[in-house]
Amino acid sequence: MSRLLTVNYNKKPSYDIVIGTDYSELSDRVKALGFESKKAVIITDSKVKDLHVESVKTELEKVCSNVFVYAFEAGEPSKNLNTVQDIIRFMIENKLNRNDLAVAVGGGVVGDIAGFCASIYLRGIEFIQIPTTLLAQVDSSIGGKTGVDFDQYKNMVGAFKMPKLVYINTKTLSTLDARQFYAGMAEVMKYGLIMDESFFEWLISKMYEIHDRDDATLEEMIETCCICKQKIVERDPLEKGDRALLNFGHTIGHAIEKYKNFELLHGECVALGCVAASYISWQKNKLSKDEYYEIRDMFVPFNLPISIDDLEPEKIVELTKSDKKSIDGGIKFILLKRVGKAYIDQTVTDEEMIAGINEINFTEEDEKA
Ligand SMILES: NC(=O)c1ccc[n+]([C@@H]2O[C@H](COP(=O)([O-])OP(=O)(O)OC[C@H]3O[C@@H](n4cnc5c(N)ncnc54)[C@H](O)[C@@H]3O)[C@@H](O)[C@H]2O)c1
Ligand SMILES: [Zn+2]
Repeated sequence: MSRLLTVNYNKKPSYDIVIGTDYSELSDRVKALGFESKKAVIITDSKVKDLHVESVKTELEKVCSNVFVYAFEAGEPSKNLNTVQDIIRFMIENKLNRNDLAVAVGGGVVGDIAGFCASIYLRGIEFIQIPTTLLAQVDSSIGGKTGVDFDQYKNMVGAFKMPKLVYINTKTLSTLDARQFYAGMAEVMKYGLIMDESFFEWLISKMYEIHDRDDATLEEMIETCCICKQKIVERDPLEKGDRALLNFGHTIGHAIEKYKNFELLHGECVALGCVAASYISWQKNKLSKDEYYEIRDMFVPFNLPISIDDLEPEKIVELTKSDKKSIDGGIKFILLKRVGKAYIDQTVTDEEMIAGINEINFTEEDEKA
């Protein structure tokens, strides 16, 4: 049996999130949404194409008149306007019209690009999300943020475009490599930290099942994350306020991602950013020392880094200021009042940030100690 959530947009039901272990409900859902005998274009990447696209295509072919597949080179460097152009060209060549459907099958990169293409092609066609990474299943496929990177700026160009459906088949995670899986766990833990203390405790108690990628545990975990994200995006769909809480760990995290030239995965940098932000929360007397260490040490069993060598704190701080978010209205630092309760803090100084970065900076002295 699948699990089902309905996300509201402007207080009205907007789209469903289906969480299951196969695609058995997909064709009926696509039909119910009105895409019977319409064309569909599956947008995916080179890796996911060989792993998961065939089974989705088979299901869509039960209802759609034609199903085309466009795959771009896997990886963040493809997330740019050139790829968007290639996809738009492909849609024109295959004569997709305004009533046809775009289907994103892949991780966050695929979802962000495909959603953006759907938002601009013929001034907008409908699209559905079939996320295949843990990060995409718990985060990026929900909430309608789409877009691409531009020059050195991440997610600089984009649009809000709500999907018609998010269909999560948790079995796709069985082919995800360990590093990507644990990177997704950083976002999972983030939900516990910012808004759900009992979920954070549940994650501790289910550590072994999560490592084993036990079906029932993953489904429950993903559903809880989807509910958290749903609550936030329903409250603040266009990120004018509270949605910023989702950026916990991301201000310093994004800066480290850039500083290390994207050698680390996003989730790994988010883990480091969460540790630094928790440290700052402790220094500002919001968290106790014990709470800080409890949070920090929770990333370790999920194979996530809590320190890293060779950071230059001043440079990292500088990088936080060239982030899109700071261009767009100044840094809103997210700190914790306690586990399960985050807040926006606009008083974080450069010195406090540097202290937070030093906390995760692994130096030669640490090694000797
Ligand atoms: N729109 C949003 O709200 C939002 C939120 C968070 C992150 N994002 C974006 O998401 C992107 C990161 O997403 P991601 O981590 O999923 O990266 P990704 O899409 O690049 O996927 C990571 C890697 O895993 C591969 N992969 C995907 N599914 C697989 C599977 N089932 N088995 C084996 N390999 C698989 C991909 O080919 C890729 O190589 C970033 O660009 C980020 O900006 C968007
Ligand atoms: Zn993130």
